[in-house]
Amino acid sequence: MSKLNLSGKVVIITGSSKGIGKATALELLQAGARVTLNGRSPQALEATAQAFRHAGYADAILPIAGDVSQAEFCESLIQQTLAHWGRIDILINNAGAGFRGRMEETSPRAFKDVVDSNLMSAAYCTLAALPEIRKNKGSILFISSLSGIRGLPNNGPYCAAKMALTALAETLRIELHGSGVHIGLHMVGITDYDEDKRVIQADGQLIPIRRRSHHTRQQVARIILHSLRRRRFKVVYTPLGKLQVFFQRFFPGMVEWLLLKSANSEIYK
Ligand SMILES: NC(=O)c1ccc[n+]([C@@H]2O[C@H](COP(=O)([O-])OP(=O)(O)OC[C@H]3O[C@@H](n4cnc5c(N)ncnc54)[C@H](OP(=O)(O)O)[C@@H]3O)[C@@H](O)[C@H]2O)c1
Repeated sequence: MSKLNLSGKVVIITGSSKGIGKATALELLQAGARVTLNGRSPQALEATAQAFRHAGYADAILPIAGDVSQAEFCESLIQQTLAHWGRIDILINNAGAGFRGRMEETSPRAFKDVVDSNLMSAAYCTLAALPEIRKNKGSILFISSLSGIRGLPNNGPYCAAKMALTALAETLRIELHGSGVHIGLHMVGITDYDEDKRVIQADGQLIPIRRRSHHTRQQVARIILHSLRRRRFKVVYTPLGKLQVFFQRFFPGMVEWLLLKSANSEIYK
């Protein structure tokens, strides 16, 4: 199968002022793509845009600050990108907040925030960008997580949102079969993160996280580019993630037993 050349492609990456989105933006710029950057904080977005300008990519970036959990903003993000570059080839639905907390302690507001930022953002941006991406036979990627394989303790809203991304990607893949549009779903493992990264707690407060990562942001970014070039559908990260998928499919009872045994361990806190 021939590899897609990413040079000259127009890519929107939601949540690209930091983390995986920022690392992916850099890899795409290095591959010759033009990238619309996004994040809610104008200051963080401008700092990232400035770093990319200093690296020589001033003409290849378009920073647009705003919240992709709002449908109106998603429409505007797509229209501004189209007005600036004249086309859109690839949408990477990457923005999304993490979560920690038991369901019985979770406020409706916190649940909604997690679902809005991980699921509704991807749905709104996809709906707005689809006509243009269909025209260009482009790609739509969903950045999900190994937490999207099944429901896990202490992570209900996040698992629910990420599992729903699988359904959304599967639906689109069938509906768009034969259209030339590529749909990709990345079930990412625990990735290294910025010092200031925060996740939503059950009561809605933002809290720092401490955990050992499986891979770096740059490694994730390179896998994303590889999957775009090869037009891959489902990408499950890490050997442990692949084992999780296998056991969940063939031995779900055993997985549940293991989770019951380990529900209070450090990895779910
Ligand atoms: N890091 C991991 O271990 C890991 C593992 C599996 C999957 N993932 C997934 O990978 C994606 C990126 O995670 P990450 O760790 O790179 O996150 P991160 O370091 O916290 O960065 C998140 C980025 O998204 C932006 N953002 C968040 N909510 C937004 C919204 N509603 N509208 C617009 N921008 C928004 C943030 O900027 P502002 O805060 O300024 O808006 C920031 O640029 C997420 O979907 C996450 O679920 C991450």
